[in-house]
Amino acid sequence: MAQDVQPGGESAQNQAALEAAGQENFDRIIAKDSRIEPRDWMPNAYRRSLVRQISQHAHSEIIGMQPEANWISRAPSLKRKSILMAKVQDEAGHGLYLYSAAETLGTTRDEMTDALVAGKARYSSIFNYPTPTWADMGAIGWMVDGAAICNQVPLCRASYGPYGRAMVRVCKEESFHQRQGFEILLELANGTPEQRVMAQDAVNRWYAPSLMMFGPPDDDSPNSKQSMAWNIKRFSNDELRSRFVGMMAEQVKVLGLSLPDEAIHFNEDTKKWDHGPLDWDEFKEVLAGRGPCNAQRLERRRSAHEDGAWVREAASAYAAKQAATNAQKVAA
Ligand code: 3HC
Repeated sequence: MAQDVQPGGESAQNQAALEAAGQENFDRIIAKDSRIEPRDWMPNAYRRSLVRQISQHAHSEIIGMQPEANWISRAPSLKRKSILMAKVQDEAGHGLYLYSAAETLGTTRDEMTDALVAGKARYSSIFNYPTPTWADMGAIGWMVDGAAICNQVPLCRASYGPYGRAMVRVCKEESFHQRQGFEILLELANGTPEQRVMAQDAVNRWYAPSLMMFGPPDDDSPNSKQSMAWNIKRFSNDELRSRFVGMMAEQVKVLGLSLPDEAIHFNEDTKKWDHGPLDWDEFKEVLAGRGPCNAQRLERRRSAHEDGAWVREAASAYAAKQAATNAQKVAA
């Protein structure tokens, strides 16, 4: 009876029916292992979790430019300088694809950037460690980009279309990054005794932080279960970490160097690579903003953002002028 319907009740019912149909469609797409696109209905929690992960990932790419940019002017040859410059530019590009992917979920790039410069957003723990020697460029390429590939190749199949598609290009470029890092280490490992020591020292310092990039152990990973149920993550943090250890254990033999972990071995029972304990207290400290370079990285990002204010202003003024000219042309 009409008098039983509360004001707005009908539209609330319509809304509920739309939500139910949206959820059904979403569940069907996920069950088919197909893709959710920006205009599809999606649960708020799925949207929030994607913005969380993609924006953190974008911030990591942008902050990750700093430890390597630090060596561009000091690279040992013109060839190395141009390769490193191209790599750092690639990382900027990755950040941009990722910010664009996150924007399709309704969060603006300005909002994400503001959260980062205000120190409220996370970015990867790995970029809070110093790069004191040239061999660090090799170790970052081989180990950090190697870990990124291990983690990100499965993300090419992430259920959210724009994220998965961005990952395809990112992973192709990361493969080049990893090889250039490996080649730097190979050359140093076969160079003078001092160069060899420098290469081994860099591998020793980057080993544990690169394993921690995969995130906390599975028992301590609050997001993994739901993220895997939604087909965003395909493998758990420990599973990917173990694969990465196996990959490095083989490749380090070609380098003629060693990994600073005597516990590494292939476990015949689990068919996985085991490694020694990691210092998860250190990881938590880095995440809390108290790692060796957190303050420096954030301050640098903040000042770069402030220095770029005039560029953003000029680009906005130019875009407004173009839009006005186009509107006049359409009206004429
Ligand atoms: N650094 C900083 N924070 C981390 C972290 C790390 N290495 N690992 C986990 N965390 C955070 C998580 O973000 C989460 O915090 P939140 O709930 O506030 O977001 C918390 O620790 C618990 O971790 P979970 O395992 O529950 O989180 P996830 O399920 O999201 O898994 C992840 C973490 C594996 C990093 C996942 O988010 C992921 O795969 N992200 C995409 C890849 C990415 O961001 N890589 C960063 C490096 S990019 C890079 O390396 C660039 C290249 O040029 C080298």
